[in-house]
Amino acid sequence: MEHPPHRLSVAPMMDWTDRHCRYFHRLMTRRAMLYTEMVTAPAVVHGDRDRLLGFNRAEHPVALQLGGSDPEELRAAVRLAVPYGYDEINLNVGCPSDRVQSGCFGAVLMERPQLVADCVAAMQEASPVPVTVKCRIGVDDQDPQAVLPDFLERVSAAGVRHFVIHARKAWLQGLSPKENREIPPLDYDLVVAMKAAFPHLTICINGGITSLDQARALLERGVDGVMIGRAAYHDPGSVLIGADGLWGDGPGRDALQVVAAMHPYIAAHLARGGRLHQITRHMLGLFHGRPGARGWRRVLSEGVARPGAGLEVLEAALAEVAPGADVQAAVG
Ligand SMILES: Cc1cc2nc3c(=O)[nH]c(=O)nc-3n(C[C@H](O)[C@H](O)[C@H](O)COP(=O)(O)O)c2cc1C
Repeated sequence: MEHPPHRLSVAPMMDWTDRHCRYFHRLMTRRAMLYTEMVTAPAVVHGDRDRLLGFNRAEHPVALQLGGSDPEELRAAVRLAVPYGYDEINLNVGCPSDRVQSGCFGAVLMERPQLVADCVAAMQEASPVPVTVKCRIGVDDQDPQAVLPDFLERVSAAGVRHFVIHARKAWLQGLSPKENREIPPLDYDLVVAMKAAFPHLTICINGGITSLDQARALLERGVDGVMIGRAAYHDPGSVLIGADGLWGDGPGRDALQVVAAMHPYIAAHLARGGRLHQITRHMLGLFHGRPGARGWRRVLSEGVARPGAGLEVLEAALAEVAPGADVQAAVG
């Protein structure tokens, strides 16, 4: 059987996985599921929808992540998002930021599984595509061994079949969102155990996974998919180039070909009045760990500051990692 896109996915990351980032990631993996940044349901209902929800068809398969805790508002947001053609709609039950907590959504919802069940039930009524949930193993002094199976039981009773589990608790008081991605210990065993306990559910694991080898090892332990966030963003050359091997595909573009393939996309963005930096900021890690990587980052981050900066900055940065490279030839 053909492996589904969630075998590997790139995590939703606010301010990072915007449409430009996803377009760039898609040039490295044709297979992986890409998640949007979290968009709140009130923003979808009241805000500039094309700006919040618009994306390039080349990004498919792509999942929209929503934040919210009001079933009716979430239903309305899903209804408004459906015409954009996302492949999946995901509810955020994992984000610990204060801003998110005061709206009672994100990780604090781990304490209210029945409300989550009501939310996803409403979302599903409006969605022709799967509604999925991204959660933690628990919050604060909850016992994950007890609350996680209960959470999965109750939310799946509302019809959700697919969960992404960030394998650590969130501490709602006293830790910043960044610390909440580093300090609470990871418990992969618990997530693996959830797949064994709920074999009919799709269970994807997230948190601290930094290489394709590690992803492969977790897949071998039985989970249905692996979600990678920071490592995919900071080191896409290692994590995303070659990722399609998880589906048995051969090598895709190399890093140089990825830069070449970004050219027309960037040119079109600049022609519409967009700024180079909006795209190239996501590309700084492309040559991570390779000779010239520092030069690439430096030239790219300094060059974009000049008014009217264009593709010549990308060429100059490329000369740092691939002197004499003919980018046009690399388009292939
Ligand atoms: C900059 C940043 C922004 C994030 N924004 C979101 C978000 O919008 N929604 C969400 O569910 N998780 C968000 N996360 C958490 C990630 O999706 C992921 O669960 C976490 O980083 C752990 O995975 P990793 O160790 O592979 O990075 C964010 C993480 C980072 C680093």
